[in-house]
Amino acid sequence: MSHEQEAARRRTFAIISHPDAGKTTLTENLLLAGGAIRAAGEVAARGQARRTTSDWMKIERDRGISVSASVMTFEFDGLVFNLLDTPGHEDFSEDTYRTLTAADCAVMVLDAAKGIEPQTLKLFEVCRLRDIPIVTFINKMDREAQDPIALLDEIQDKLQLDTSPLYWPAASGQRFSGMMDLHKQEFCVFDRKPGEAPKIGESERIAGDEASLKAALDDSVFEELSEGAEMATSLLPEFDEQSFLDGHMTPVVFGSALRHFGVLELLRTLHAYAPPPRDQKAEKKGEPITVHASDKPVSGFVFKIQANMDPNHRDRVAFLRLCSGEFKRGMRLKTTAGKQLNIHNPMMFLAQDREIAETAYAGDVIGVPNHGQLRVGDSLSENGDIQFGGIPNFAPELLRRARVKDPMKAKHLRKALESLAEEGVTQLFKPAIGSDMIVGAVGQLQFEVMTERVAAEYNLEVVFEPAPYNVARWLSCDDDKVLEAFLDKNKSASGTDLDDAPVYLAKNAWDVGYAQEKNPDIRFTATKERL
Ligand code: G4P
Repeated sequence: MSHEQEAARRRTFAIISHPDAGKTTLTENLLLAGGAIRAAGEVAARGQARRTTSDWMKIERDRGISVSASVMTFEFDGLVFNLLDTPGHEDFSEDTYRTLTAADCAVMVLDAAKGIEPQTLKLFEVCRLRDIPIVTFINKMDREAQDPIALLDEIQDKLQLDTSPLYWPAASGQRFSGMMDLHKQEFCVFDRKPGEAPKIGESERIAGDEASLKAALDDSVFEELSEGAEMATSLLPEFDEQSFLDGHMTPVVFGSALRHFGVLELLRTLHAYAPPPRDQKAEKKGEPITVHASDKPVSGFVFKIQANMDPNHRDRVAFLRLCSGEFKRGMRLKTTAGKQLNIHNPMMFLAQDREIAETAYAGDVIGVPNHGQLRVGDSLSENGDIQFGGIPNFAPELLRRARVKDPMKAKHLRKALESLAEEGVTQLFKPAIGSDMIVGAVGQLQFEVMTERVAAEYNLEVVFEPAPYNVARWLSCDDDKVLEAFLDKNKSASGTDLDDAPVYLAKNAWDVGYAQEKNPDIRFTATKERL
């Protein structure tokens, strides 16, 4: 197969949801339906084994949240699916945002009883920024659910997204009986045999005519289904593939991830409609260009760094989303800053296993082991002349001064904090005066994770205490001299980030506003986009 054909059969997607909506359960069941894992529980069981080797994941275990994102690849019906896993907890949203920049499509999982929740909305907005097409999976139909029409109305109202149900559910909770395939006019039966493990794979289908349905369903369920399905088909628009690809319409599938119901139908929907690797905007020698998946030269960008995946080796893996070409093991790629990497041991992620990738194509994600040369937002290409944009750094919402209990170990702590900041989850600032280490994060939980990791991986006891600053803003100016003069005048309120970019460190937002007013030529920004 040519590299164009290989790229054309890639489908790279992420799942967005509010914690507890069922993302983990759905992920596991998608992998099962795709045949990537053998039995339910395997993802969790492997996860458990990994966790015992890594102390810092204790927090993950204790709090039942997933703090590390990765990618899972599986083949289904001739297509290669790359499922990008995103951490669900809101403190890790920055990581999630970046992961979404590597996805071509998203599955939005909603809890049928709760509808759109705050985190769903936030993540949806990130998808909207890039017009990523979205497939909706309304989960937990085996529990009492909201009226499906009301759920679809909520999607329409809150997300300004047209909904087109491909299936229509027959009741919910105890009475949940299955769903109607609105295109084929067949009914997928929800098989609930008490005491029996739910079946994996295709659900039983019966004809969707009135007589067959009446024979199979309770009277009240039949009434509810036929009324609802009629309303849905008359009120809601037909599925329009172009509108979906433009990010304006979402096809909707109902199901119960826990009971394996609707999962294969969701996978078939992705198979039918999820787009192949998208064109990517980039710059080449300062000129804007578009990189097509079918282009021959290899290119890609780093959207995530994970350090110490194996605590016995100080390894660090950069997750590279390929955007074009045929990548071959051993290839030499360059960053725009001129760093060269010979990629001898690229990793592929099959379900939860890692293995060496011999070849990879646009849409694929490979893990590039390195010793800190690569950063989030770096682009790699054969000539080192392509830079992809759009991977943001967000200004942290919390700043803390880091101190190590043993003062002799301050240097060690700086190294540890630097290497954690290189992963891109937290940020490290160095004030212009003094030797403080100021760590920035989007949420309190990240400080707890850092404390545990610094202890487990570097054997240091770190304390995070209130910092003299609460707000950080990146500074830029068209005139270097103006910026230099400002920095000189404001030594006590400025510093640099990990890349030596200047930042303004202020007590509060009012200070920032004031400084901005007094220095109209200087830009104070809450995001730093790496271009
Ligand atoms: P998350 O990754 O989005 O946070 O959600 P996760 O899959 O962990 O699911 C959250 C809870 O919802 C879990 O229950 C899970 O079993 C349950 N769940 C997921 N899908 C369904 C579904 O289709 N139907 C029903 N009834 N429940 C579902 P838990 O009690 O928190 O955990 P566990 O002890 O069952 O593992």
